[in-house]
This record gives sequence, structure tokens and C-alpha cells, in this order.
Amino acid sequence: MKIGFLDSGIGGLTVLKEALKILPNHEYIYYADTENVPYGIKPKNEVKNYIFNAVDFIIKQGVKAVLIACNTATSIAIKDLRQQYNIPIIGMEPAVKPAVENCDGKRVLVLATPLTLKEEKYQKLVSRLDSKDIVDSLPLPELVEFAENFVFDEEIITRYLKDKFAPYNLNAYGTIVLGCTHFPFYKSFFREILPAHIDIIDGNLATVKHLKRSIEERYSNISTDSQGKVNFYLSGNKVCEDVVLDKYMGILKS
Ligand code: SIN
Repeated sequence: MKIGFLDSGIGGLTVLKEALKILPNHEYIYYADTENVPYGIKPKNEVKNYIFNAVDFIIKQGVKAVLIACNTATSIAIKDLRQQYNIPIIGMEPAVKPAVENCDGKRVLVLATPLTLKEEKYQKLVSRLDSKDIVDSLPLPELVEFAENFVFDEEIITRYLKDKFAPYNLNAYGTIVLGCTHFPFYKSFFREILPAHIDIIDGNLATVKHLKRSIEERYSNISTDSQGKVNFYLSGNKVCEDVVLDKYMGILKS
């Protein structure tokens, strides 16, 4: 079965990696909207347009389900996408629920893009779950830019993260939620600078399980003849497209 993945760029690969473990025998179409990345700092309507163009393209490839592997895109477009297309459209959601349920009296800090945090979807999620007023949020848009430019230098990233966390009393926090699919690339850097008692969680595995359930419910005959093939599409005229695609493949195999 063909399954589509959309992200503004490289972030969705952190979700696709999980999908390849749980649903290995499918053919994946991974669309990176590299012409328009980053989404998380742009006006909502502009980004919505990009998302619809990308999903149109993905659906024309014959996919039977689409996973919007981007928290920002999910926040602003998932409802409209589901109305427009008659196949399962699965989205991401910052993992606030498990964070709040397991908080053990400590605070929760959600990291995401400015657009995700500003959107009604996120605001509603927090007001539904955060009855004890323990959830804080911190936008980290530069981390998206670092990932898109393949910046994984420990010194640069840890300096950036330390600056961002400086105003926080981290001992008061029990969980950090990675609410952007670009952020798991930096999990080891987060681990390095955060106190050991803090859990670092993301919604990737739960989302892939949701994808699995959705296709099983929707299709009685799921063909699993493919060998976990991934076809990449980049929207932008990225210089040295082959180099970028090699890096994408490298990430998936790492
Ligand atoms: C971005 O393009 O700003 C990142 C989107 C996301 O994964 O939330």
C-alpha cells in the first residue's frame, strides 16, 4: 500500500523511521516542502496553501493514507484536509496528554514552533488537559533551521539550548515534550543539558500506531508486497538535490 508523508522538510523523517519499523512492508511517498520551509514562523494562510498544494501532489501519487508528519501543518490544516479528502489523514499532536498524566507533581514544558503554540488546536488541547496549570510552552524556531541546514554541531546546539532554558528553573520540570518533528534529531543534546530526572518525550510512535489502526480499520485488504520502499520528493530547487536526498536516506538508515 502506498502511504504519503508530508513535512516542511527533514523533520518528518523522525516519524517515518518509526513507521518503517511498525509498518515495514509499504511503499512510502515522503514529500519535503523544502521550497517553503520553515512553516512555523510564517502566516497561517500562506502555510495552509503550501500544505494543500503538497497534499494534492501526494494524493495524485495514489496513496491510500497521508500522515502529516509536522505539528505546525497539523495544527492549522488537519480539519480542512479531512473534509477535503476521503482517505485517512493522520496528524501529529504535542504529547501533552501522557506528559500531564505522568507528571508526578512536576511541571511540563512543551517545545514547538511559534505557529503550533499560537494555534487554537494547541490552546484547546492544553486547556482541556492542564487543570492544574502545570504546562508551559517554549517556541524553538531556530532548531528547525538548524536541522534543515544539517547543523548537528554539539557546541552550537548546546549553547543555543542552554540560552533558551536559562530563564527556567529546570528542577521544577518533570517532562519536556518535543512538539515538532524536527526536534527529536537533537534528543541527545537535550539529554546532555537537562537534569537526569526530566523525561523527554515525543508523539512519533503514538502517531504511527494511530496510522496503523486507521489503515486497518479503513481497508480490509492491505497489500504489503513492497519492501519498505521510500520515494522522496522535494518541492524546492534545493542546490545539490542528490546530496540532500543522500542525507535523508542516511538519516533513515542511522
Ligand atoms: C517548521 O517548518 O517550522 C517545522 C514544522 C513542524 O514540524 O512543526
